[in-house]
Amino acid sequence: MKNSFKLIFSIAIAFLTVFPGKGQNNFEPGATWPASDGKHINVHGGGILFYHGRYYWFGEHRLPKNTEKVQTDGVGCYSSKDLYHWKYEGVSLMIPNDTTSLLTPGCVVERPKVIYNKKTGKFVMWFHHELKGQGYKAAMTGVAVSNKITGPYRYIHSLRPNAGQWPLNYSKEQQSDTLTERSLKKWSPEWKEAVKNGLFLRRDFEGGQMARDMTLFVDDNGKAYHIHSSEENQTLHFSELTDDYLGFSGLYIRVLPGDANEAPAIFKKEGKYYMFSSGTTGWAPNPGRSAMSSDILGNWVPLGNPCRGNEKNVKTTFASQSTHVLQINGTENFIYMGDRWKPEELIDSRHIWLPVEWEDGLPVIKWYDKWNLSIFSYEK
Ligand code: DGJ
Repeated sequence: MKNSFKLIFSIAIAFLTVFPGKGQNNFEPGATWPASDGKHINVHGGGILFYHGRYYWFGEHRLPKNTEKVQTDGVGCYSSKDLYHWKYEGVSLMIPNDTTSLLTPGCVVERPKVIYNKKTGKFVMWFHHELKGQGYKAAMTGVAVSNKITGPYRYIHSLRPNAGQWPLNYSKEQQSDTLTERSLKKWSPEWKEAVKNGLFLRRDFEGGQMARDMTLFVDDNGKAYHIHSSEENQTLHFSELTDDYLGFSGLYIRVLPGDANEAPAIFKKEGKYYMFSSGTTGWAPNPGRSAMSSDILGNWVPLGNPCRGNEKNVKTTFASQSTHVLQINGTENFIYMGDRWKPEELIDSRHIWLPVEWEDGLPVIKWYDKWNLSIFSYEK
């Protein structure tokens, strides 16, 4: 009897290891989230693309600590039909063992996002790219393309966007300002004012604008935008991509100049555009931010911290940093996706998914230990 109980117990454990999470139709923000391979979902700073009935989650595929000081081997991918259970699809963009390429082991690949181009039938991936051995100095964006959603993606190149182009919302007078960094003390009120007025924008005009934390957004008319922290992380740039999504059209705007936003995530509801973002405190969480505009390349108005709840949660965005807002297919319901970073072991960073709720017509986020999609049934 004892032995048969042991046998049943072992079979049950084996089953749960092979099919973890089966039957668990809940999100548990901050818990480990095993995929079909039994391992915690290893895509961070990521985003989700819905395609032909499945959700595809792309993100930083992190390596275990101290893997010869290489933190990532590329961009990982998982897929799901129901958002609760995820199948590991492998590494979609593999960093090649090629020392002649900018994409080489030891470089930084962060916050990758993938979009689908209906005209070309291709999947286009953009990611924040820092060069090997240069910390976060290069501030570039990389692009890769594939005929198949899960990859393999072919790396095209990395660049600094919009070289030789002025933003649409930067006046002729501002363009001809001759003030430079040399005469200013960093972080002084004068420095801040100069930064707000485009000190770094003008400095980088010829070589191209800095691009760090990034996301992509495809509008209903098929136009796509690359949104990134620029100007030493002090100002966001919203840049239109070319029709094939592989390059920059040259049209762009500065958003919230001098407000130091990172981690942008864009979504659209009833014709209005919304953004969640964070402040700039490295891997440590900080108070979330939100903003709104009636035109993607228009006037973005700050809406304040979207987090609701106790002080600790509001001050730390539930100990997370935004990465994407997922629109649930066929609905106007949205999920906030954030990363609870573990800088000492990035592979174990946790996923914070919470429903986007609406308060006086504005998006807010509240904490739930456990929740599921039925929360949206009251708003359709
Ligand atoms: C904050 C960014 O949002 C992250 O993606 C990462 O680049 C860290 N900084 C690195 O400190």
